Amino acid sequence: MHSALSTQHSALIYNIGQLATPIDEGRPLVGAAQGRLRLISDAAVAIDQAGRIAAVGDSATLLAQHQVGEKLNAGGRTMLPGWVDAHTHAFYAGDRADEFALRLQGANYLEIMAAGGGIMSTVRATRAASADQLRELTAARLRRMRANGTTTVEVKSGYGLSVAEELRCLRILRDLAADPTLPRIVPTFLGAHAIPGEYAGRADEYVSLVVEQMLPQVAAERLAEYCDVFCDMGAFDVAQTRRIMEAAAALGLKLRLHANEFADIGAAELAAELRCVSADHLLLLDEAQIAALHNAGCVAVVAPGTPYGLGLDHYAPARRMIEAGLPIALASDCNPGTCPCESMPLIISLACTQMRLTPAEAIVATTLNGAYALGRAHEVGSIEVGKRADLVLWDVPSYTHLPYRFGSNLVWKTVMGFEF
Ligand code: NIG
Ligand code: FE
Repeated sequence: MHSALSTQHSALIYNIGQLATPIDEGRPLVGAAQGRLRLISDAAVAIDQAGRIAAVGDSATLLAQHQVGEKLNAGGRTMLPGWVDAHTHAFYAGDRADEFALRLQGANYLEIMAAGGGIMSTVRATRAASADQLRELTAARLRRMRANGTTTVEVKSGYGLSVAEELRCLRILRDLAADPTLPRIVPTFLGAHAIPGEYAGRADEYVSLVVEQMLPQVAAERLAEYCDVFCDMGAFDVAQTRRIMEAAAALGLKLRLHANEFADIGAAELAAELRCVSADHLLLLDEAQIAALHNAGCVAVVAPGTPYGLGLDHYAPARRMIEAGLPIALASDCNPGTCPCESMPLIISLACTQMRLTPAEAIVATTLNGAYALGRAHEVGSIEVGKRADLVLWDVPSYTHLPYRFGSNLVWKTVMGFEF
């Protein structure tokens, strides 16, 4: 637990009233373990010169060992790992506040989409935006996420929907990924997010464009680590999705899938069949589908901000998932249509009140299990020696205050490596 050589530490955060972290045992935490946090009071964390955690332990002990380097007094506050937000569509221009208002009057998401609004409305705004505008809008969004404690974030493309525009968006995203002031970015190609207007009635031809032209270039330029498809009513069916996912896997991309968000068209079964790293949304999911995802080793990425933003009265069956041993990660789904939410603490609060997760289960779901959902658990997701020092200090006496005191940003400091 304690590192022997004090000179290796170049920074120390001490006087942490409560340090709460999942313990990484090499796989996502499931069942009863999904709610298990290690709690240390009067804690300290030492950070080495590479920005990794060098020691975790008792404040007085580490303070005595720590002779050199920077020190930060946490003032008795609570420390958690930075959030790992495993599902966002945070790269876009424009907004859809008008659709939000229409939905409140009874319009529904799929109808708005079928009428040419919805995702296509954001595609038009994104295509019309300059590279500088897209960079600035997205960077500002990611900065607000970091200010709310997010230190790793998955970001999907999906508002370009032509060869040139999907590549343009992913290249700008790659530039943003090099900015150390932003959360770490995991890029996902979602060229199959909607059938663009130009291909109305010719969905299979659009799928061919994705498979034959977009994917090979995305892979050749290494612009994305994952491929995702919006496999749902009004978007891509199972056969089209399978074609895209198989082509992506053959090019070396890892897979994650939008499944069972608006309708059950067989996407959850497909996610299991393809052994996707994650199956996401899962609002409509029965026991057999839960078992299939469990057997396939998928992480269920659950995004309660989405039904909330849509004003729906049903949420993903998270308790049944936990009972079945399916690991849950919680994500913001930050997007302009259903859920423009940049706050993981709000997502945690919704998970507790609407899906009955315990605060500890929700914290595991937004840290270590989020890291597993992104294949990043060797680097982030828990406060343990060797992982990145992505650490957030909260102005609260214990982690249970986060879902309880919903609606305020209680972050005192987000630390990534050395930045105090
Ligand atoms: O996760 N379902 C597809 N994608 C988003 C919505 C995107 C949008 O409406 O712009 C979602 O809910
Ligand atoms: Fe989504």
